[in-house]
Formats: sequence, C-alpha cells, structure tokens
Amino acid sequence: MKLKGRGSVMLFPLPFQGHINPMLQLANILHERGFSISIIHTRFNSPNPLNYPLFRFYPIPDGLSENHVISSDPNRIVAFVKFLNSNCQTPFRVCLAKLISTSLEDEDPTACLVTDALWYSTQAVADDLKLPRIVLRTSNVSSFIVLSSMSLLFEKGYLPLQDSVVEMEVPELPQFRFKDIAMLEASDRESFLQFIEILVQETKASSGIILNSCEDLEQEFLSKLSLLFPIPVFLIGPFHKYFPASSSSLLPQDRTCISWLDKQQPNSVIYVSFGSVAAIEEADFLEVAWGLANSMQPFLWVVRPGLVQGSEWLEILPNGYLEMVGERTHIVKWAPQQEVLAHPSTGAFWTHCGWNSTLESLCEGVPMICQPSFGDQKTDSRFVSHVWRVGVHLEFKIERGEIERAIRRLMVEPEGQEMRERIKLIKDKINLCLKPGGSSYKSLDNLVSYILSM
Ligand code: UDX
Repeated sequence: MKLKGRGSVMLFPLPFQGHINPMLQLANILHERGFSISIIHTRFNSPNPLNYPLFRFYPIPDGLSENHVISSDPNRIVAFVKFLNSNCQTPFRVCLAKLISTSLEDEDPTACLVTDALWYSTQAVADDLKLPRIVLRTSNVSSFIVLSSMSLLFEKGYLPLQDSVVEMEVPELPQFRFKDIAMLEASDRESFLQFIEILVQETKASSGIILNSCEDLEQEFLSKLSLLFPIPVFLIGPFHKYFPASSSSLLPQDRTCISWLDKQQPNSVIYVSFGSVAAIEEADFLEVAWGLANSMQPFLWVVRPGLVQGSEWLEILPNGYLEMVGERTHIVKWAPQQEVLAHPSTGAFWTHCGWNSTLESLCEGVPMICQPSFGDQKTDSRFVSHVWRVGVHLEFKIERGEIERAIRRLMVEPEGQEMRERIKLIKDKINLCLKPGGSSYKSLDNLVSYILSM
C-alpha cells in the first residue's frame, strides 16, 4: 500500500556514477514510503528522467562542458568536487528556493533535503532556507571513519609516510595498515585536509546521516561513528536490494553478456570491472589481459572506454589475442552489473572495491579479487580480504603471474571454497537486515518517522 501525501523530499546527487546510483536508489526507497521526490542535479552526468517517471527532475548549471571527463587522479577528484561545490552553490540555492515555494502552493510541503555528503556547500543553503538537510554518505561506515580521522593522523605526524611503516597497523585505526589509507598519499596535503575538514564540519552541522550499509556488517564501528558524529545515523542498506536492478546507469548496459553467461558452467566465470572512474596504464592493462588468458577460466571483462588513457577500446590488445581466448571471454563496455553478479555462472569478481561494487558482490555471495585504486577502495579491500576474509588482495602494480595465482586461489583451491562459504553467511546476514525486525528495516522506519517529525 502506498502512503501518499507525506511531503516532498528533495535529493541532490553528486554527478559520479558511484554516487548517483545509491542516491536514486534511496529516492526509490523514500518514494515507496510515501514521499514525493524531486531530484536536483547538475547538467553534467545528468540522470535520465525517462527512467523515473514518478520523480521530478530539475537540472542546474554547473559550468562544465558536456564532454568533461572525470580524472582518476585522487588530487584532481578533490579539486573537481571543490569546483562543483563553489560553482553550483548559487544555482542550487535559486532552484531549491523556487521548489520550496512551489511545493507550498501545491500543498506538498518540502519535508527535507538529502544531499551527498560531498555537497558540503549545500548546508549553508539549507540553513538559510531553514530546511533540514540529511546527508547521504555513499561509502561504508569504516571508510567514513577513516576519512573523518584524517586530520588526527596528519597531526600525529605520520607524514611523509616512511617505507618502514607502510605495513604496520595505524594505532588509531587498528583494522587498517598505513598502506590501506589511500588518503595519506595525497600530494597536495593542505588542500586535501581543508577539504576533509569542511566535509566533516558540514556533515556534523546536518540533521542526520544515511549510509548505504547495515549495522550487522559494521557493528564494531557504530559507537565510534556516533562519537564522531553526534547526530542521528541511519544504516538502511543495501539500497539496491529493495528493488530489481536499478536504471540509473549513465552508460548503456550491454545485455549480451547475460546470454553469454547463460552458456557457462555454474560458478565458473570471473567477472572483471574496475568501476566508473579508475583508470589503468596500458602496460597494466596488458598484464590483466594475459593474467586472465593464462588462468584458463572463462571471463567477462568490462573495458570501459577511458579505462586506459588515450585508447579507444580494445585496439591495444596484442594481435591474435581475441582469437586465442575465443569463446572463453566476452568483453563489453559496460555491463548490467547487479544482474551479472546475481547470475549463477559468476564465480568471482575482480573489482576495484568501490563500495557499490563491494556491497553488490557481498549481497550475491560472490568472492572477490581486490585491486583498489584510490579513496575508500583501499579500506574496502582490506575489509574484504582480511576482516571478512572473502577475497584476495592484489596490489595496484599488477603482474600476470600474480593475477593467475589469485584466480587459482579463488576458483580452484580449497581456500576459494572457504571464502565462498564465508561470503554466503554474510549474504544471508545482509538479507536478514532487510526483513521485518532486521536492523536496516528498523532503521528505515526510524528514518521515515524522523523525516515526518521535521
Ligand atoms: C566511486 C568510487 O570509486 C568508489 O570508491 C566510491 O565508493 C563510490 O564512488 P565507482 O568507482 O564507480 O564509484 O565504483 P562503485 O562504487 O563500485 O560504483 C560503480 C557502480 O556502477 C556500481 O553500482 C555498479 O553496479 C555500476 N556498474 C559498474 C555497472 O552498472 N556496470 C558496469 O559495467 C560497472
């Protein structure tokens, strides 16, 4: 039963695929709970309104050209997010003010604003317009704590990182080694710290935080999160499990891979994708290609245009490579990832450990080969390989022999079977979170009551 007339929620996703997906999934969840939904979005990387006929979409100018390409360099990503915050603050304010007054005329008053945590400049707008702002943090709890502890780690004088400490645990964050904290490697330290500080400060100033994770997965971090952020926190994830596969993909998803998977043996295929931003060097790409070929396992490989800088698509593969691997591979530019992971033929996921990919894999019980690149990916990888022990960690400098060994460990050796059993338990645990009485189910009820009380 739909409970209409609960007011309107305005959502503002950050224009990255890994941030748009969870925001639109959250919009679906709130809509199902009776809120009307308005999406304010940049023109750059605009979601497709045709996929969401029940939502209203409001584009705002962002100062970017249509063919802007997001860099995979972490320092440039930080600069880009800062640019978006300063460029979009005024258009966002104008748009939001107009929507608030229209929603009053329509007798559908605005209940609250939900923005990505990285849209820190929206807190001042929300304050001015007297609208409560709830923050969506699209990563998990542990990596958010790592990020929020960054100033402390800088103050402790851990930098510049010495080679002798990289393998050691960080005393303040005992689950992680120094090398798992990618943010410590930021080259423009001052600018980076300033960015984190404002992000943390404006999250603390918000009315609450929603995370795409569930309590049962990250129990040991919850009290630390409440200490760092003494505001209401709602872990209602995994968002994507509330509905069938999402339609917020910015690139067309090539469905030929599903019919190819239908022809493979159960649990036999390695699915390879490094998400929407990470890029690799040509030499590494060739190591990936040979590692996969030499493994003798079937593989479904997402080669996103732009994955290798300067290349169009597959032209850099050696002559004869595709003929040699033949039917054993299927290569696409972009896949319907959730369906691929849920397919019975998919036996392992070689991933960059973006949080969406990691969570999607946990939810389908698919063990991982982890090859993190930047940001939260390194902490996610540490969790997958050393805490949950459902994956094998690969260093980012990659080599075909190491790839082959990792694939063997997962697909052939008893160790892989043990990981499969462990991840199945995690999958079951996550499923229970979403059922009546489960932690995410209860947390969503609390979130809805909270929004209604605002
Ligand atoms: C980015 C960051 O890299 C990541 O670390 C952070 O947690 C979120 O933002 P991205 O690199 O794109 O995201 O990775 P990820 O979080 O895994 O999100 C990728 C999304 O694209 C997933 O929801 C995945 O299902 C989808 N996808 C990926 C496809 O639909 N098709 C593909 O072929 C590959």
